[in-house]
Amino acid sequence: MKLTADQLRDKYLTFFESKGHAVISGASLIPENDPTVLFTTAGMHPLVPYLLGEPHPAGRRLTNVQKCVRTGDIDAVGDSCHLTFFEMLGNWSLGDYFKKEAIAWSFEFLTQHLGFAPDQLSVTVFAGEDGIPRDDESIAIWKSLGIPEERIYALPKEDNWWGPAGTTGPCGPDTEMFIDNGQPACGPECRPGCHCGKYIEIWNDVFMQYNKTAEGTYEPLKQHNVDTGMGVERTICMMNGLETVFETELFAPLMARIKELSTVRPDEETAVRAERIIADHMRTSVFILGDPKGGVKPGNIGANYVLRRLIRRSVRYAKLLGIESGYTRILAEIVIDNYKHVYPELEANRATVLDELTAEEARFEKTLAAGQREFDKVAGALKQHGQTTLSGRTAFKLYDTYGFPLEFTEELAAEQGFAVDRQGYEEAFKKHQELSKQGDATFKGGLADNTVATTRLHTATHLLHKALQMVLGPHVQQKGSNITSERLRFDFSHPEKMTPEQIKQVEEIVNDVIQRNLPVTMETMSIEEAKAKGAAALFTAKYGEQVKVYAAGDFSLEVCGGPHAATTGELGGFKIKKEESSSAGVRRIKAVITAKT
Ligand code: ALA
Repeated sequence: MKLTADQLRDKYLTFFESKGHAVISGASLIPENDPTVLFTTAGMHPLVPYLLGEPHPAGRRLTNVQKCVRTGDIDAVGDSCHLTFFEMLGNWSLGDYFKKEAIAWSFEFLTQHLGFAPDQLSVTVFAGEDGIPRDDESIAIWKSLGIPEERIYALPKEDNWWGPAGTTGPCGPDTEMFIDNGQPACGPECRPGCHCGKYIEIWNDVFMQYNKTAEGTYEPLKQHNVDTGMGVERTICMMNGLETVFETELFAPLMARIKELSTVRPDEETAVRAERIIADHMRTSVFILGDPKGGVKPGNIGANYVLRRLIRRSVRYAKLLGIESGYTRILAEIVIDNYKHVYPELEANRATVLDELTAEEARFEKTLAAGQREFDKVAGALKQHGQTTLSGRTAFKLYDTYGFPLEFTEELAAEQGFAVDRQGYEEAFKKHQELSKQGDATFKGGLADNTVATTRLHTATHLLHKALQMVLGPHVQQKGSNITSERLRFDFSHPEKMTPEQIKQVEEIVNDVIQRNLPVTMETMSIEEAKAKGAAALFTAKYGEQVKVYAAGDFSLEVCGGPHAATTGELGGFKIKKEESSSAGVRRIKAVITAKT
């Protein structure tokens, strides 16, 4: 059966709706309140509180499409199916149905609605490990559906255990579904999970029964959940009988333009890989820059660094193909046009996306040639002395002076047969950070340690938002926010620098609300009701969708996923540390609280 991505998304949601699931909106690519991950990596990620037992406003059966970014596989990009951005179709049971229904519905959808023949399907299940037994129940269910034993593979934790998404949280054994694309096996050991490309994983049903704690132990969850994820790009690739995801309509226009812009063709394999890397990295960068939550710009820390690395890696491969400067803008326009009907935020943020890409491309171009010369010089000297490792100091210099991300230097080095002293690099980096006091703790500790602090800062963000509207005017809209355990960062629309008096006024309002120790309460209602009540709403929830609305007494009202402090008094005190420009028409505040313990 031939199917477009648009049709697949529709079919999936309709199918699970018919099985009693509520269709909910996908979340931002930039996670709220979770300092353990930089991006949303799976559909379950925004649902963690509900998987842990909090009731979800839409019920116990949910389904959606979620934008995901995963950079763990960045080195595999260039093959037929690995991507740094992808869309995940998911269905969830929050303490409702379990293995029997989940597997039966997966099978029904694949065979009856997508038209895969049952004998194209191979599955894997958890073989048992660490005192957790083999998943015989899933094996029996697959058999009862007609999958013969020789196509059911029991594999260890490494293959068939999923999660948590960050360092802590819900996880469990899974069963994964693979489509055999018909190519010959690469050898007698070839099986689902093999990287030769014969078996393409398109769907994963996770049985979330455990919570991984900050101490690394697994405790049983209060409720048994199901978390599934189906990859849109891979599924339509297989359905349309294509060899690679880059041939699907999601990539085809982009790939065609990259070919047109190329003026040099190194050997075929290098050229094909470069084209795919450019396409993948550009698409991911557009989605990060175009995210409704905003705030991630190319930079040197955390998510900003990932974005910088993606753009710069793409620029490097573009040079390899002789693509002229300014190409990032051309390709980004294609991505936006291709997706804007599904993700209107890309259209809304078109100017920011194009400007940021163009600026980063230009910044990198300025130093790329000089950095490459420096690298060649060092590599030449190393070779002369028969050495095989590039020092951490050199890698840091390439980073600091020429803007080469470490991974990028590692790639250049690997091409010449060198390793890079990663530890030495980290040490040089740390020393530099301490010196310039740039430390911005992204990964300090797990979620568990930071929950209280980030929760309070989250509440402070709501108070700040409201206070800014009171002092500056109703035009103030949230443009982005980011919370670490130390501080909050809030981007908002406002055309000019705030005066010291305005800053003081805002601080006073927030501190007054803290003093009044207002209760923070949550109510579930439809998005229309929330808007009618005057609640601030950042994301475009779907018509009729149930949302959570948090109120800080009578002071502020905002649609938000939470969690929040129980009372404003918990925050202790509030101080604005910095007010600066973020981009044209957008200001940025960094603030801290002096929480009571
Ligand atoms: N969370 C599961 C995955 O990402 C479904 O594979």
